[in-house]
Amino acid sequence: MANIKQKIRLDYNNMMSEAIGEQGFTKKDFAAVEDRVDFAVNYFNEKAGTGFMGWTKLHDEQDAIVADIITAANEVRANFKNFVVLGIGGSALGPTSVFQALCHMRHNEITATRRKGAPKFYVEDNVDPERMIALLQTISLKDTCFNVITKSGSTSETMTQYLVIKNELEKAGLDPKTHIITTTSANSGNLIKISQAEGYKTFYIPDGVGGRFSELCPVGLLPAAVLGIDIAGLLEGAKFMYELCTQSENNSNMALTAAKLQYIAMNKGKNISVMMPYADGLKYISDWYSQLWGESLGKNKLMDGTPCNMGQTPVKALGVTDQHSQIQLYAEGPFDKVITFIAVDKYRKKVVIPQGCDEFPNVNFLCGHTMNELIVAERNATEYAVTKAGKLNHTIFLPVINEFTIGQLLMFFELKTAYCGFMLNIDPFDQPGVEEGKNATYALLGRPGYEEKQRELNAGNKKYKKYMM
Ligand code: PA5
Repeated sequence: MANIKQKIRLDYNNMMSEAIGEQGFTKKDFAAVEDRVDFAVNYFNEKAGTGFMGWTKLHDEQDAIVADIITAANEVRANFKNFVVLGIGGSALGPTSVFQALCHMRHNEITATRRKGAPKFYVEDNVDPERMIALLQTISLKDTCFNVITKSGSTSETMTQYLVIKNELEKAGLDPKTHIITTTSANSGNLIKISQAEGYKTFYIPDGVGGRFSELCPVGLLPAAVLGIDIAGLLEGAKFMYELCTQSENNSNMALTAAKLQYIAMNKGKNISVMMPYADGLKYISDWYSQLWGESLGKNKLMDGTPCNMGQTPVKALGVTDQHSQIQLYAEGPFDKVITFIAVDKYRKKVVIPQGCDEFPNVNFLCGHTMNELIVAERNATEYAVTKAGKLNHTIFLPVINEFTIGQLLMFFELKTAYCGFMLNIDPFDQPGVEEGKNATYALLGRPGYEEKQRELNAGNKKYKKYMM
């Protein structure tokens, strides 16, 4: 198997009764979910590549698109100093997390030479007017390429940003066509029609790929290629994980195992999933995971329509930073969570802690060690503390952070989410709760066709003075 040395690993010792006692899982717990696990595997195999499971093919079927993306990315790199993503949810979190993981941590602050020709990078995923003005005050429009990303082609936030930027470009006497690239569905929504009318360069989001499963299609690949990230390496990592999990026996399918662990935990009332990477580069992978896990599993009906209230609330934390804010709660608070630590075997840089403070042995003991040793020691110590407190936890190990391991990690989480959704017997690929909010926004701002929704809102949205202070 290619690059086996860089395979990411899962250690779930601390989910088991041997490690944490009463709260830990036993053989009986695994036996009790066997039927649901078999169902999930069979259902996955039956549906892979169909309907909303088009994301399972992205690592295999994009050679021509990758070539087109690299050509476009090279043009952007040659002509622009800034690259701005306009998008929200799945159209923003993937690009942000891969950027943070694989680019210099102070990317926008270092010189273009140190960025190896990559433009500065901004992801605008909100409609706070103050943020929009701040962006416009920071970038020079003539030096900026905007990538408008929306699967549905009609999300209010993204279309608002598009309208503002197009207007600004025109006011500055610039041709929007040379400054805007769109990424959207080829078959539905408004952005594709706008793109055709305006003549924008457009990349397509395949039909079977939902927002939160879209990082490995042009949504994430174009920004990554513009940043100089090896997108073939990302796809290779995803393929490696996909094959590991789907072409081997279930006992080497680490995504299935991880899903099973969370499923058992949910059945035992553990309603919170904490994601705690020990690497700043992985900080936004937690944000991306939170959307994936929260939006996919948070559902109010089973596949057959039976009402339910499913889901597990994702919580983002960062090691070691949040040891000093969250760990007290995780160690001594309620038994309501599963903690996922993400560990890195080999950090890309090393810092030796220099000699000093000779007369203070309680400080001087640090000297001669490295920051690398310290962060690993702190992770081990935190794992020890929560395990001693009987709290469910497990660790994903990345041998190193690079394109191949990040590709694996993204695919691992996507597979885990799909498997867990099927175990729960819900549809992990829709988001009616999000759509409800989107539709209400359309109604509130007078989009044609949403008059009935507006009436519903007006009737239901009563506020009583007695409850206002
Ligand atoms: O996962 C999803 O489908 C959603 O969270 C979307 O990513 C988000 O609502 C943005 O949608 P769109 O890409 O259609 O603008």
